[in-house]
Amino acid sequence: MTKVLVATEKPFAATALTQIRQIIEDAGFRFAVLEKYTHTDQLLEAVKDVDALIIRSDLANKAVIEAAPKLKIIVRAGAGYDNIDLETATAHQVVAMNTPGQNSNAVAELVFGMMIFQARKQFTGKTGAELRGKKIGIHAYGNVGKYVAAIAKGFGMDVYAFDPFVKKEEILADGIKVCESVEELYQTCQYVSLHIPANAKTKKSINYSLLSTMPKGATLINTARKEVIDENDLLKIFADRSDFTYLSDIEPDCKEELAAKYGDRIFFTLKKMGAQTDEANMNAGVAAAQQIVGFIKDGNTRYKVN
Ligand code: 3PG
Repeated sequence: MTKVLVATEKPFAATALTQIRQIIEDAGFRFAVLEKYTHTDQLLEAVKDVDALIIRSDLANKAVIEAAPKLKIIVRAGAGYDNIDLETATAHQVVAMNTPGQNSNAVAELVFGMMIFQARKQFTGKTGAELRGKKIGIHAYGNVGKYVAAIAKGFGMDVYAFDPFVKKEEILADGIKVCESVEELYQTCQYVSLHIPANAKTKKSINYSLLSTMPKGATLINTARKEVIDENDLLKIFADRSDFTYLSDIEPDCKEELAAKYGDRIFFTLKKMGAQTDEANMNAGVAAAQQIVGFIKDGNTRYKVN
């Protein structure tokens, strides 16, 4: 019998897990779950007889894939699949998928939660500022970027976007201004919200030469991946500019140094929580379960990323 394992160090909401189980069992498959594991060995042990795997930010590296000889499909319930070793998956004929768009609104709402928190001086009662009328740059106009842009319009912000992979007309049709280059986006916008994936091209791409050109009150919001930031350059910017602020859902490796020196200009969530809502868990979890059923039963490879 086909066995599907949900392996999530950071668990899905209980309602989402119930729904995932239902879909898997209705398809006639066996359902298993490994949550809150503390050591990779537990994951290696749990995958050894599974045909399909649902993960979140959990590492599906070479060791994990090779520990699962029956594995046919891994679905990352979420957007970014930089946690899956695609080369090894392909070499072992394992299909890898993500569930694009399913948790985007949750991530976009968190962007504004962090922006308001910082604009209002971390709720200390000190005089803050409003978002209305401020320029925000959406760095990559994908699923999350689109939600951020729509919410920003509601706040009365002046919204810009840069995305070389999206047609200019598509962005303009949403009432968003288009920047012709990444440099223009950073030079124009006081707020920049990052929505680029982490890959060989983007890693450490957010660097001093971009950040140093941001207007006064520069605020970088990262709900994407920490790897896209050049952290040496980040430290340099903080040292150079007393008006620079960094808000992130993924704490940087240099967190302690930043906290010691610039505590009132940073905010990092305790654990990545952009997608951690009932709704996002339900959407992404259900999509992952349905994609597995569709693949095993009908060979449907929509959302395959390898
Ligand atoms: C994603 O890529 O979808 C987000 O980073 C969410 O990650 P999570 O499922 O670990 O919360």
